[in-house]
Amino acid sequence: MKRTLVTCALPYANGPVHIGHLAGVYVPADIYVRYLRMRGEDVLYVCGSDEHGVPITIKAREQGCSPQDIVDKYHRLIRDSFSGLGINFDIYGRTSSAVHADNASAFFRKLYEDGKFVTRESEQYYDPQAETFLADRYIVGTCPRCGNPNAYGDQCEKCGATLSPDELLDPKSKLSGAQPVRKKTTHWYLPLQDYERWLGEWILEGHKEWRGSVYGQCKSWLDGGLQPRAVTRDLDWGVPVPVEGAEGKVLYVWFDAPIGYISNTRELLPQSWEQWWKSEDTRLVHFIGKDNIVFHCIVFPSMLKAHGGYILPDNVPANEFLNLEGDKISTSRGWAVWAHEYLEQFPGKEDVMRYALTANAPETKDNDFSWKDFQARNNNELVAIFGNFVNRAVVLTHKYFGGKVPACGSLSEVDKEMLADIPALKASMEENLAHFRFREALKDAMGMARAGNKYISDTEPWKAAKTDLARTATILNLSLQVCADLAVAFEPFTPFAAEKLRRMLNVGLDAGTDHRKGEQETENTYRPDEGRALHTGEHATPAAIRLSWDVLGRPQILPAGHGIAEPELLFAKIEDEAIAAQIARLEAIRKQKEEEARLQAAMQVPAQKASCSFEDFEKMDIRTATVVAAERVPKTDKLLKLTIDTGMDTRVIVSGIAAFYTPEQMLGRQICILANLQPRVIRGIESRGMILMARQGDGRMRFITPQEVLSNGAQIG
Ligand code: MF3
Ligand code: ZN
Repeated sequence: MKRTLVTCALPYANGPVHIGHLAGVYVPADIYVRYLRMRGEDVLYVCGSDEHGVPITIKAREQGCSPQDIVDKYHRLIRDSFSGLGINFDIYGRTSSAVHADNASAFFRKLYEDGKFVTRESEQYYDPQAETFLADRYIVGTCPRCGNPNAYGDQCEKCGATLSPDELLDPKSKLSGAQPVRKKTTHWYLPLQDYERWLGEWILEGHKEWRGSVYGQCKSWLDGGLQPRAVTRDLDWGVPVPVEGAEGKVLYVWFDAPIGYISNTRELLPQSWEQWWKSEDTRLVHFIGKDNIVFHCIVFPSMLKAHGGYILPDNVPANEFLNLEGDKISTSRGWAVWAHEYLEQFPGKEDVMRYALTANAPETKDNDFSWKDFQARNNNELVAIFGNFVNRAVVLTHKYFGGKVPACGSLSEVDKEMLADIPALKASMEENLAHFRFREALKDAMGMARAGNKYISDTEPWKAAKTDLARTATILNLSLQVCADLAVAFEPFTPFAAEKLRRMLNVGLDAGTDHRKGEQETENTYRPDEGRALHTGEHATPAAIRLSWDVLGRPQILPAGHGIAEPELLFAKIEDEAIAAQIARLEAIRKQKEEEARLQAAMQVPAQKASCSFEDFEKMDIRTATVVAAERVPKTDKLLKLTIDTGMDTRVIVSGIAAFYTPEQMLGRQICILANLQPRVIRGIESRGMILMARQGDGRMRFITPQEVLSNGAQIG
């Protein structure tokens, strides 16, 4: 059987991870790894921080610290969030490590020496004062579309336009404020077009089994034709380009980061890493989000091919995106649920988030996370079905049989039917897991709990106990067997509950080889004494009965007479208040965004009208006047009937002002009017003149009033 190397996209160490990351990459990968390990397969599980790239240097500047400070902070935060959720990689390395610098440089040098790169000269923006090239993000200026004065060289965050630095009006360097100039620079490129044919054969011919969305993206990239890709940048944060004449240049972050998978493996297993990367006995699976597809299916494989000697991914089960309460997750707006905050706010509920994210996994389309759904998944499924069933089986066993598995007698029809469900669901689960359909697999697992729960409700062992204790014994025996099945079936999805359940059932787990300790421990190796959530309890006190995937569905996993432990609740209800607090936090963000959008709209200034002559203007008789009476025009929403003193006369003007002012607000106010507008009859009222109003971009209108009270009838012009 082949070994499996599972990698998860290396998160950028410039912010915490949120539920979108978890649902897209890390929870599914973890389910897969736990499943394979229970099957006794040899799995290596690799991840780490992606610590290079321009956004990290920008964040450091904003916060007045070094890029290293930023990545140190988020590396720890993210690593701990993962382990808090039971996601325990064999290694969680970092691309700022020495191993990685060596490994990535060697990789580049090999391609360089083998003539796999081409060089190209191009013009890039340069800050003459700071004497450095500028990434697009380091250039700010006015957006040509919306006038936002703080647009970036690659994007305007106000209107969302994708820009190039040339389009910015009045571009300035973020570093010195100087005007950037164009300057020639040379970079190394990987000529991807040379790999096009080979990629086509390998993916389009050879991997038709990949997810439709992944295959489709690959196909459209390949159909569109590939271009040379720059693999270096002019920047001072990253792995220095290890060749002569490359001063001030680093490897492009998307070149070095995927090599990080290899570096991290080398860090963990300096002696045996090659068996994971260079042996056809290893199956490589990349878990990523859909925005990473091109890098993992086109670019990185081309790099590996160019280098030679490496295996290629066997599958790349990329997920779509998860939305939050109907809106795209946005880290800058705070429209996200952060993993570390969740762990703080919902202690002991790690499994609930794993469960909710899997039940709603964005596998075939973008999906939505809502707090109400999260609560319902917990209360109606985990608590009411899984937890309730286990609790009844364990409590009743203690009540009637002193905590020992009672003997199984002859089986009735209901018993046989229930028992037949388990292997069928197991087979379906295997099929789904093999094809990375985790939400379907979870439904199968929950199906087993449902079957057990229904069985115990239908057979009512507490009633049988009054007349036929042997029947109660059979029912509880079978129920406990299903509990043991659940302790296996839920291990990939809700590992904390599964472990608790095994403790209750007094059984252990065979979960395959553990590579976590590595050959020599490094700073990034998992060690139990660091207090990370390692499920080592069962390894520490091996129980006589050890569960594994094979055992699931077998008759009499727990033999009669086997003693079980005291009941513990697997899941607790989540109350409305906890959910309301989360929703309130998001509502506040939504309000704030609406407010910002309103202000933004208010700032919109329409273009100037065609010019008019002074004579045109002179025709208009504009005057000050005071409102002496005001009332609504009956049966309209918009109109007020205003009686005004114009200094010349007292007259009536009907104005469409009612959406902005009440009659009371108008009474006694001095306004400006166009006095000589031809009279018009509106709703049967003769209106003589027009109130002058200013209209903002958002449609809000205010009347024009003199700075100080003037005499009525003063001419304006
Ligand atoms: N940091 C990237 C992201 O979050 C993922 C890098 S994956 C790797 O989108 F392969 F490059 F490591
Ligand atoms: Zn704009």
